[in-house]
Amino acid sequence: MNKKKILVLGANGKTGSRVIDRLQKISEVEVRMGSRNAAQPFDWENAETWFPVLQDIDSVYITFQPDLAVPAAVAIIQKFASLATSLGVQKMVLLSGRGEKEAQVCEEIIKNTAKNWTIVRASWFNQNFSESFFLEPILAGFVALPRAKALEPFTDANDIADVVVECLLNEKHNNQTYELTGPKLLTFPEAVAEIAKATDKEIHFQALSLEEYVQMLKEYQVPEDHIWLINYLFEHVLDGRNSHITNDIEKILGRKPTDFSTYAKETAKSGIWNVINA
Ligand SMILES: NC(=O)c1ccc[n+]([C@@H]2O[C@H](COP(=O)([O-])OP(=O)(O)OC[C@H]3O[C@@H](n4cnc5c(N)ncnc54)[C@H](OP(=O)(O)O)[C@@H]3O)[C@@H](O)[C@H]2O)c1
Repeated sequence: MNKKKILVLGANGKTGSRVIDRLQKISEVEVRMGSRNAAQPFDWENAETWFPVLQDIDSVYITFQPDLAVPAAVAIIQKFASLATSLGVQKMVLLSGRGEKEAQVCEEIIKNTAKNWTIVRASWFNQNFSESFFLEPILAGFVALPRAKALEPFTDANDIADVVVECLLNEKHNNQTYELTGPKLLTFPEAVAEIAKATDKEIHFQALSLEEYVQMLKEYQVPEDHIWLINYLFEHVLDGRNSHITNDIEKILGRKPTDFSTYAKETAKSGIWNVINA
């Protein structure tokens, strides 16, 4: 029997790694890792790397770097999707953000270029606090962020991975757009308080204005394009437009999404936050 060949981009990332773990347990599937560090490297910034990685692939899970909202994304996604379709790719599952009109331009490109597609829009990931940009401040015991009153329905990367695998394998999800959220709206101080409770450590939260936050990033010499993206995300995505929950995870998986406090308790057990320096 011919195995279904699936390329997972962002193979070492928060959702990509979990999608790979799940697909590797399915005998009818052959998984290819899309990573700058794979034997056959894949780099969004080097289109010459795309062709060999796309050879003989049936379906692709696309996680773009750094974000579909950056101005360069439109041309890159168009070029990648056209190449993938011309090489015979039958299905693309695109990870997108919620309420990002720039990302929606990229979604339209996938919808118009892929033979079959599923768009998976996700709210901010829980794992940003344990595997990404909020880990360092959590470990420092001091989190300073803008939009302290914004309500966000943080989603668990494990739930996203379960949905993505279901979308990759089941044709009933073809040509659908889903919005994934966790079960509860939380502010940043509430999310940080959940982690403090789960770890039994003190983590101080300081509310900043967006201007103060951008200034702080400049002082830390964060690259300009990164600051642009962070500013965009805080200014647009956290302005209240996404402060509502959806039931798409339950609709697709037949179970409730993971609660932030469950994520915090499970992650505390993993030891990643053991060295919180309060
Ligand atoms: N984080 C969130 O809360 C969130 C929410 C909604 C949507 N999204 C979307 O999800 C996507 C993934 O975002 P993320 O920040 O969470 O990252 P991520 O999935 O954790 O991915 C990080 C990985 O990207 C890979 N990477 C970095 N630069 C690359 C390049 N030039 N070419 C190929 N791979 C590259 C790196 O892997 P290698 O070093 O192995 O190449 C790294 O492991 C983005 O499009 C983002 O907009 C994120």
